[in-house]
Amino acid sequence: MSTVAVILAAGLGTRMKSRLPKVLHPILGDPSLLWVLRALPPGLSAAVLVVHHGKEAVLAAVECWQQAGLLPCPVSAVDQGEPLGTGHALQVCIPELDRLGATRVAILCGDVPLTTPATVARLCAAEALMLAMDLPNPGSYGRVLQQPDGRLAGIVEAKDATPEQLAVRRVNGGAYALPWPALRTALQGLRNDNAQKEYYLTDAVAAVAQQLPVAVEVCAPEELAGMNSRLDQSELQAAAQRRIQRHWMAEGVTYLHPDSTLVGPRVFLSQDVLLEPGVRLEGAVTIGEGCCIGQGTVISDTTLAAGVLVRPYCVIEHAVVGAEAKIGPFSRLREGTDLAEGVHVGNFVETKKARLHRGAKANHLAYLGDTEIGEGTNIGAGVITCNYDGVNKHRTTIGRNVFVGSDTQLVAPVVIGDGVLIGAGSTVTKDVPADALTLSRTPQTIREGGATKLRLRQRKGSGVS
Ligand code: UD1
Ligand code: MG
Repeated sequence: MSTVAVILAAGLGTRMKSRLPKVLHPILGDPSLLWVLRALPPGLSAAVLVVHHGKEAVLAAVECWQQAGLLPCPVSAVDQGEPLGTGHALQVCIPELDRLGATRVAILCGDVPLTTPATVARLCAAEALMLAMDLPNPGSYGRVLQQPDGRLAGIVEAKDATPEQLAVRRVNGGAYALPWPALRTALQGLRNDNAQKEYYLTDAVAAVAQQLPVAVEVCAPEELAGMNSRLDQSELQAAAQRRIQRHWMAEGVTYLHPDSTLVGPRVFLSQDVLLEPGVRLEGAVTIGEGCCIGQGTVISDTTLAAGVLVRPYCVIEHAVVGAEAKIGPFSRLREGTDLAEGVHVGNFVETKKARLHRGAKANHLAYLGDTEIGEGTNIGAGVITCNYDGVNKHRTTIGRNVFVGSDTQLVAPVVIGDGVLIGAGSTVTKDVPADALTLSRTPQTIREGGATKLRLRQRKGSGVS
């Protein structure tokens, strides 16, 4: 048995009013299509994506996720050409599904992000099943018609429905699992003699239901809600936020202000994590036990070990932070930042490709880029690694237990040995051997009484007495 998923994503998404294809619009940082692909069960042999509008952007995104190992199975794409309906979308997949040796297909929509992995797994394991929902105002959804025993009798699009059919509240969620040979035959017989002059997949599903029993599973509406407008997007995001919050609160996480806290679907939070108001965590983030994430902090694609304190208003991306480190307030940790246990990075410090070893400290106003900083080293206020000469980037290597005085510029490439002491205000251009004292300053001059003399001269010059 080889089940292949087909994901429909060729539609234009007119109501989003966007240059970005609809399926790439994010919910808590992850595009809708990524939610759908990641909900597929691991046992699936392949997924086929039906694309057309915005194809280049969609395929580039999928390639990126594939390379990042985010997808549970290989994904191939079929260009639908001008979309002529959901049935047409499946018709253009016939050669690809035959090539993949599909025996059953599970069909999902790329703009329906919140179907849970458990529901998708049930769909993919079923013989013949469609997902439906009961809505108080069924609007433009297709109406589900059932036999007395509950199995599917037919699906009528709202535009083609009789008044009695329109009164049906059970609607088609657009997700189906069907045996491929039966669906394949039904697709070949599709016609577009309906109100929208489209080839309806629903007609093919109804035709299969004449041959074999197709079960109907009723899901929570949130699981089948589509993203067709910015309003839908915000409502889906709120639903996802609530779902994720409930999960992490049950795992022992405190949210001080749940409504303003956004935690993405690929975030892992440990016990006793505390999230202050306005925190946003996106992408692949892991937060260790007992970490506190301060108000207004944004973290993406980062791992924090246990007991890290992130004070308010930090921005952290593509970083690794060791246990008990203290960050912020107002720190910016950029890609390639690697802080060991007990490191302190304080206010207005920016780091990029910076490795700080155990217990190193940079507490105030510094730029540390393309650098390695040894254990126990202290970086004074206003220190800058001058890593860029206008053309190339260069490295600064600083040993253990170094004291870098305030307002020092380290002009890379430069190597500072263990135990070095750099006097405040130095511009360091040459390597410094271990244990040396170095300083580069113009000598300070002092003229006794010089301040009064200077002021007098200044007043005469300006005519003020
Ligand atoms: C379809 C169903 C309807 C159901 C609804 C659930 C049909 C005929 N109707 O409605 O019963 O209640 O979904 O959301 O299937 N797409 C393509 N190619 C196309 C047309 C659509 O890839 O030619 C994709 C869209 O990008 C979207 C999905 O298919 O992801 C559903 O299309 P949409 O137009 O939103 O659904 P309807 O046809 O209105
Ligand atoms: Mg349509």
